[in-house]
Amino acid sequence: VSEERFTRIKNQWGYPKEAVDWCLEHEGIAASDLDSVVLASYHLPRAVYDDKKTVHGAAARIAYWGTEVERNLPSRGARFVSKVYRMTDGVMHLRQRKSLIASSLGLSEDRIIVVDHHEAHAYTTLLCSQFRKETLVLTMDGEGDGLCSTVSAIEEDSLHRLVSSSYTSSLGYLYRWTTKYLGMKPNEHEYKVMGLAPYAAARDAFKVYRKMRPLIKTNDDGSFTSAINMRYADKWLKSELYGTRFDWVAGGVQMVAEDVLSTWVATLLDKYCYSRLALGGGVFMNVKANMVLSELPQVEQLFVMPSCGDESLAIGAALMGYGRLRGRSNWLPDIPPLAHLYLGPEYEASESNIKRLINTRSIEMQHHTDIDGAIADLLSEGKVVGRFSGRAEWGARALGNRSILARADNIDVVEEINNMIKQRDFWMPFAPTILSDRESDYIINPKHFPAPYMIMAFRSSRLGQRDLRAAMHPSDRTLRPQILDPNWNPHYYSVLKQFEKRTGIGGILNTSFNLHGEPIVNSIEDAVSTFSRSGLRYLALGEFLLSKS
Ligand SMILES: [Fe+2]
Repeated sequence: VSEERFTRIKNQWGYPKEAVDWCLEHEGIAASDLDSVVLASYHLPRAVYDDKKTVHGAAARIAYWGTEVERNLPSRGARFVSKVYRMTDGVMHLRQRKSLIASSLGLSEDRIIVVDHHEAHAYTTLLCSQFRKETLVLTMDGEGDGLCSTVSAIEEDSLHRLVSSSYTSSLGYLYRWTTKYLGMKPNEHEYKVMGLAPYAAARDAFKVYRKMRPLIKTNDDGSFTSAINMRYADKWLKSELYGTRFDWVAGGVQMVAEDVLSTWVATLLDKYCYSRLALGGGVFMNVKANMVLSELPQVEQLFVMPSCGDESLAIGAALMGYGRLRGRSNWLPDIPPLAHLYLGPEYEASESNIKRLINTRSIEMQHHTDIDGAIADLLSEGKVVGRFSGRAEWGARALGNRSILARADNIDVVEEINNMIKQRDFWMPFAPTILSDRESDYIINPKHFPAPYMIMAFRSSRLGQRDLRAAMHPSDRTLRPQILDPNWNPHYYSVLKQFEKRTGIGGILNTSFNLHGEPIVNSIEDAVSTFSRSGLRYLALGEFLLSKS
């Protein structure tokens, strides 16, 4: 579970105290029972970890100054000076992180292990995948421990890194700065740039692509080099793209991303004669690029880590720590692949718990023995319904338990949901949940890649464009589905199945249950508060249906 779900501050940084406390309590273990605490990343930017007092401390100023040297003097010497500063600062900062964690948990510092950022991304994605041999594991993000990408492979039951690239050639940074250049929030709104991209005509996007593509070179060994230092790509964007239309820029950077990634993947799969691929790191949140990769002829099996940004690092870090306790640092423990993501907190939706939160007469509450059927009834009547049930989803996507649901064959629902609660940017698409036995009716997936996590886009069928038109990209009609397995969430499946019985439609629109800019709801309190503050008229809370008169 992410700390933001408890603190209600989106993308909350720092030591995740509430999340750690919840995990310990949920598993019934004390901090003193922990064999080790594993941190992913030797070096974190100070603002990521400290409270306000230390961000403005002397060490932070020195680190900042070291970085500024690199920005203003783009020479190799300046980069070296910056690197020395950052490394020194990293060591000092790591000490502070360790002592903060040791004192919070009441543990001795020698129980704390630190692992490399990209190694943790690679372990996360490989061990969550169903692959245990002959697999290429690729990681890519903005930057982590000085790198932007790595290539690893399994050799004799352990994972070995083959090649890596410096942050200076980071595609993630280029995308991040383009997000900022377009007036959106870097490290958060990259998905909005991806959503904007299909509105540009290919020939217009190509004008930007032609200028931007030569910045990054994919080498034969799988490493990247670049014409500029990508950490400061903002300078290049301002000088080269000033006055270029916003949608061309979005279309151009997406075209560059798709091309860089497919060149990279194709080169590596050809070189190592593999056809199995596992992908992790924040760049692979780009569901459209993942679709392009899935269509490469070299790719036969593909796993993209769901919610593969840094929120996924803890998984790989813990598994690496487990390996080290067994005395084997790059060992692959024999664990089953990741299944469903309903791993977060659960709260008892009892009558008394809900009643004490409702302080207005305009909200009615009704108990339903078949709440799944009641939701399906409302959905088939075209109503928009919030659903709060069972354990919260791990990661960035709501997969039915903390979701807002709606019938997707009527495009008007997009505006309705936006007015009610989401206030999304007008160009952003919604996504569907599809019954597993109806998948082939709606998405085009000739290689049969599993798609339960909303991490990969697919092209839609004709029927999909009719039944799910409000839950796909309006311009290119691709969709980012959650294919729902009945065993992973029987009640949510029952909602969809009963909806299908009434309407003949095998999928619905599923968007996360939160107000614009807030984290996804976690507790019953959050659900009722969000419901009260929004234009949403129906909320299913466990077996109770709340409705506004
Ligand atoms: Fe990362």
